[in-house]
Amino acid sequence: MNIVPSLLHFADGNAVNTPEDWKNRREELLDLLRREEYGYAPEPCKVTAEVVSRDAKCAGGSAILEKVLLTYHAPKGDHTVPMHFFVPVDGKKHPLILLINFRPDPYDMYCPTEEILDNGFAFAQICYKDITSDDPDFTNGLAGCFDRPTDGTGWGKISLWAYALHGAIGYLQTREEVDAANVAVAGHSRLGKTAMWCAAQDERIRFALINGSGCGGTALEQTKHENAETYAYIHTNFYYWFCENHHKYETETVSTVFDQHMALACIAPRYACVGCAKDDLWADPWSEKICCAAAAPAWELFGLVGFDGDDAPASVGTFCHGGHIAYHLRDGIHFFSRRDWLPYMEHIKNNLYTKIL
Ligand code: GCU
Repeated sequence: MNIVPSLLHFADGNAVNTPEDWKNRREELLDLLRREEYGYAPEPCKVTAEVVSRDAKCAGGSAILEKVLLTYHAPKGDHTVPMHFFVPVDGKKHPLILLINFRPDPYDMYCPTEEILDNGFAFAQICYKDITSDDPDFTNGLAGCFDRPTDGTGWGKISLWAYALHGAIGYLQTREEVDAANVAVAGHSRLGKTAMWCAAQDERIRFALINGSGCGGTALEQTKHENAETYAYIHTNFYYWFCENHHKYETETVSTVFDQHMALACIAPRYACVGCAKDDLWADPWSEKICCAAAAPAWELFGLVGFDGDDAPASVGTFCHGGHIAYHLRDGIHFFSRRDWLPYMEHIKNNLYTKIL
């Protein structure tokens, strides 16, 4: 399959041959994706944290749950986002999973909280609507605390949700219970797109858990299959997730400018987990697999296995976990299932102590 544009050529046509070249190519790709798809996020701002409650015996006495208020001190005002932070009680350092979720509750159907803790992780959760609303209103929450560029490249909501995660990670890495070298971000669907874009930009994140992310996530646009969401469609309802420049791809072919393999590849040489459900045709599991295969050359530049699968459609039960990009296809519909979390946690645990080149 000829996936264009080429990952391993600079915009001026020169080849990308070495890990050093990749650093520059990654910057070029991030710039392209900011300008044409997700928008430029604001400059980092100061984030302060306050623990406002503590349950020392949650999860059957196995963990501590804190409610932490994160305050973003932005140019036009402060905005506070609540976060739930769980940590096993054993007094050790733990790899961390930070989930951006749909609902504010600490226990939620999209995450098997106790099982995550039992697997030795610290676990933090933020509700995306506490950052800013999921609609075209750019004046509320954290969105209202910045001026948004009006030249077509200003942040869409995905970028702003990701921006808040960067701030949360800065705080979480200061916590003594957290193994700061082993931080994962996770999200499902629109928040899978957010987790991917967050990890693409933030090298402090070692693992990206990208679930059912589909269009604008890990589904390659140029190979979309029947009944899959496309850029043209996503803009009918969700144009505000992206920058205004992205709207032109409703009608233009995207393939000569950029595609989603570039966003996934910006995670290289770190780790990404892509999870899909068989009946989630809207998200297009096959194009997600092709995207993994198309992103892999970025890892190969480092002499690493990028993806140990191919670009053929997967069958239920497929697990490609031998490379830095893991892919699985499970049965069922669009959902963040325990059947997704289990392979994600396994992939993280298998790769905790390898050296990131
Ligand atoms: C809609 C949207 C998808 C998105 C999904 C979700 O279906 O079209 O792009 O991933 O919502 O976030 O649940």
